[in-house]
Amino acid sequence: MPLQVSPVASIQGEIEPPGDKSISHRAVMLGSLAHGLTNISNFLDGADTAASIACLQALGVDIRVEHPTPSARGLNVTVEGHGREGFREPEQVLDVRNSGTTMRVMSGILASLPFFSVITGDDSLVRRPMRRVIDPLRHMGADIFGRADDSYPPLVIRGGKLRGIEYAPSVMSAQVKTAVLLAGLSADGRTVVNHASATRDHTTRMLRAMGAHISMNGDSVELKPGELTAMDIDVPGDISSAAPWLVMAATHPRARLCLINVGVNPGRIGIVHVLKSMGASITLEERPPAGGEPIANISVESSGLKAVTVEGEMVPNVIDEIPIIALAATQADGETVIRDAAELRVKESDRISATVSELRKLGADIEELPDGMIVKGPTILKGALCRSHGDHRLAMTLGIAGLLAQDETLIYNPECVEVSYPGFWEDLEALRAG
Ligand code: S3P
Repeated sequence: MPLQVSPVASIQGEIEPPGDKSISHRAVMLGSLAHGLTNISNFLDGADTAASIACLQALGVDIRVEHPTPSARGLNVTVEGHGREGFREPEQVLDVRNSGTTMRVMSGILASLPFFSVITGDDSLVRRPMRRVIDPLRHMGADIFGRADDSYPPLVIRGGKLRGIEYAPSVMSAQVKTAVLLAGLSADGRTVVNHASATRDHTTRMLRAMGAHISMNGDSVELKPGELTAMDIDVPGDISSAAPWLVMAATHPRARLCLINVGVNPGRIGIVHVLKSMGASITLEERPPAGGEPIANISVESSGLKAVTVEGEMVPNVIDEIPIIALAATQADGETVIRDAAELRVKESDRISATVSELRKLGADIEELPDGMIVKGPTILKGALCRSHGDHRLAMTLGIAGLLAQDETLIYNPECVEVSYPGFWEDLEALRAG
């Protein structure tokens, strides 16, 4: 059954987006590698982060999950870490479902563990590129193989003693950087990842806070082997889950929203910069930091938008926000160009072709490029029958488009939002009611 979204006349209120997906994955993985009890609060109650917990439990790590109160959005997760000694060979194939982050980052951990493991995922995940982690981990000394000549999952790994390397990734990916660093924790010698500042730095921050010998040297991150010490981590709200609401309020003619408790790591707030350069009225009110990450409440209101160009070094900082930026561009005056984003073709869906085809159904003037898209605006969107392509970011983009469009919008497979934002449709309905 498709979900029906109707246009809304005005919107006003507050939303606290769920806990950050990237930080939740890292908290439970680093907590498992550390010594002692890591208490995590506001952990994302999503399908991807549940996959990380299930994998670690299958590897013998003691992880307890609790709902602090029936109405609380985030989970309390307690990890009892015993370093690498706390892991044992899994009897079954590890299944990461839809979570690319779990597969790539876990491969870095598995590469350093002295046993055999097989790791796979759902129909979308088994088509996502894995050579980017296989190459460096093999170079560090792990036996690691993938389907189709090391291109795709399932991955087969026999880990063990590794050696540190200096690595210049061919793809700007925080997941690859994290996999190499976690493998480097127990390697002989130092591990260096170049071009490290291009992508989000949650791993570096958390490793440092847990006592790792890690430093930035120009554009490179350098890690010396060592043990981690457990700590408490309060996960900030996910800016990528705030992004649909930022675009909603900026593009709707009668809207004012406040997003509460949002992580504003400089490597993640590209969406705020892009919307501001389009003319959006957005203000950040700084809050006390949490989990080693800066936090803010973000206010946004109806704004007249103009077109923007998104390219080059900006792209990794908005990599998960391109579909929602494309929607913003349909409401902006002029020609928005998004390029240098070919990586989007190998996300949970081919996000370039899926975004272009679905927004076009709603009346957008949008053209596909090999590495991006061109959007001409403003256009009046009209409700249509759309498909999420099983991609959470696209489902949320279509939900916001449905609020802005004339008439009804129908969205097939809306439940995929559970990957990163399980309460998204409830929040959308609550806003309408409020
Ligand atoms: C993530 C990094 C990004 C992002 C993904 C989460 C992470 O991927 O798209 O949703 O947690 O490290 P890449 O760094 O591989 O582009």
